[in-house]
Amino acid sequence: MTVAGISLVLILGVINLLLVLFQVGTGKRWLKVNFAWHRRLGVALLLTALLHAGLAYLSR
Ligand code: HEM
Repeated sequence: MTVAGISLVLILGVINLLLVLFQVGTGKRWLKVNFAWHRRLGVALLLTALLHAGLAYLSR
């Protein structure tokens, strides 16, 4: 599955990488962001990681 010719699995992988960096940055309080965003985006990361893995498995 592709979006504008780019694999959706690849797009989700990059989003996951950015979300992991955000989670560690806010979890360690290096990034000064309202902590509610750490909790919200932690759940979003769970969903995008599951989608990334599921689509990668189906397209293998
Ligand atoms: C719904 C999901 C999540 C919730 C509710 C949550 C909640 C928390 C809480 C309450 C803390 C302690 C903050 C403090 O008092 O200093 C924390 C720390 C932290 N979290 Fe999360 N978190 C979530 C997801 C994640 C994810 C997905 C990651 C990484 C991918 C992550 C990485 C960290 C790190 C690195 C710390 C600092 C730990 C330390 O220095 O001991 N969190 N988180």
